[in-house]
This record gives sequence, structure tokens and C-alpha cells, in this order.
Amino acid sequence: MKVIHPVTGVERDLEIPGGGRGYTRPASLVSLWSTAPFLQNNAVGTFYPSGSVEDRMKSFQDSIEQMLLLKERARDPVLAARGVNAGLIDRTTQRCSIRVAPGYVPNFVEGLGDLLFPSVFSDDGGVEIGPIPPDTPVGLLASLNIRPEGLGFWERIQYDWKLLGLVKEIKQKLKALPPNATDEDAKRVFTPLADSLLALSKCPDYVVNRGHYFGTGQFGDESRLSEQDKRDLIEFLKTF
Ligand code: HEM
Repeated sequence: MKVIHPVTGVERDLEIPGGGRGYTRPASLVSLWSTAPFLQNNAVGTFYPSGSVEDRMKSFQDSIEQMLLLKERARDPVLAARGVNAGLIDRTTQRCSIRVAPGYVPNFVEGLGDLLFPSVFSDDGGVEIGPIPPDTPVGLLASLNIRPEGLGFWERIQYDWKLLGLVKEIKQKLKALPPNATDEDAKRVFTPLADSLLALSKCPDYVVNRGHYFGTGQFGDESRLSEQDKRDLIEFLKTF
């Protein structure tokens, strides 16, 4: 499949590896009208949260129109500013940091991680990374592959070494920022690290609202419905 670099917007091919953890069970399509926005991550469609039937129907109408591409799906404004037309990418909205509590930090390098990379760990054994600038793709950190599966003993040690080295580099570079650093300064430091984070990502596809183009005739779908068919289908979906 094609994926977009979340910083540069450059498109590249990604081969999806087999042998994952299992399967995602799709949400039931029964009473579809009541459960918009759509897809597992609720990323397709606008959510009107009041809970009234009117708002449920408004959420449904907007979401199903986006699913069937009667209406364009939301776009990433950061890449749009660079002239790249990509779907929505979850990004930080303000300067922040991420803290992993000690109990959730894996046992890196067979338990020697904190001895070999002391600057990565806080005094309590946790890990804190920041300041992360606004507009950073959340997935760059959230999809970091901390524990790849299926690695042998030495491969795991090599992987941990690479990962801890990267976290160390990120921490050092962010720490070197002066206390009065602007968001732009933080972005200048963080942006060049994107490729290293991408290289260790378990899901380097950061667009959250794409896929499922059935009936649209686009992106490989061969069963294009007419606009009238789509409108009729939407009316039918309201009935069950
Ligand atoms: C025009 C015909 C179709 C319509 C109107 C339709 C509608 C939908 C809707 C609205 C959802 C979101 C459900 C939710 O989030 O609660 C959904 C999910 C899904 N549909 Fe369809 N669908 C159609 C065709 C298909 C076909 C042909 C397949 C399989 C070949 C399929 C497979 C799936 C899967 C796997 C999901 C879950 C995807 C995810 O959440 O990421 N659908 N469908």
C-alpha cells in the first residue's frame, strides 16, 4: 500500500507484513445509524455529542457521506499547507511531554538498559520525553515498536540498543533547548528525528481516516455506485 511521510508528505510503498497478532473484529453494522463516526477509530465523520436522536442522525449522515465519498473526508491541515493532499493525521495540539511510568517500561537489554543508557531513565526508572512541539504526529511516538515480536536473543538486544540509542538522542536534543525555546525551535529539533522514529515504527501509516472505499469506485474499488444508489443505500441503512 501507499503511505505518506507525516512530515514531508512524500509518498512511498509499504509492504504489510503477515503474521500479526490476530484479527480486528469489525463493529456490528446493526443500527449503524446510531454508532457514527465510523471505523474502529471513529475517525470518519463529525461527532455531534449531545446524544439526542437528531445529533445521532447528524453524525450518521456526515459519516456515511464521508464513507461513500459523497463528501470529501477530513484532510491534514499541516500537509495541506505544504501542498500535499493527505487524510487526517492525529497531531499534538500544544507543547507537551510523554511520561511512561516505571511499571510500564519494558525490561530493555535483558534488564541492563538503565545501566547502559542511564540518561534515558528518570530517577524512578520511568521515561519522560519532551518538550514535544505542537503539530507532531502522535503516531510517531505512539506507534514506536517497543517490543517487536519473534526476535531471537541477540536480535532483541540489537533492537533494544537501537531503540534506547534513539530515545537517548531525542532526549539529549530536546534537553539542549534553552528554557525560553519557542515552539518553532522545538519543531526544528524534533523534525529531523522523524525518519529515525519512522524506521522503528510498527505502523508507519499515520493517516487515520482512510480505507473502506467500497462503492466509491476509487482507490482500487471496482464497484462504483451512482450518487442516487448511494443516497438510496443511506436511506436503507437508517432502517435497520
Ligand atoms: C457499499 C457497501 C458497504 C457499506 C455501506 C459499508 C458500511 C460500513 C460502515 C458504515 C462501516 C463502519 C462501521 C462502524 O464503524 O461502526 C463498515 C466497516 C467495515 N466494513 Fe463495510 N460496508 C460496505 C462494504 C463492505 C465490504 C464489501 C467489505 C468487505 C469486503 C466490508 C468490510 C468492512 C470492515 C472490515 C469494516 C471495519 C473496518 C474498520 O473499522 O476499520 N464492508 N462498513
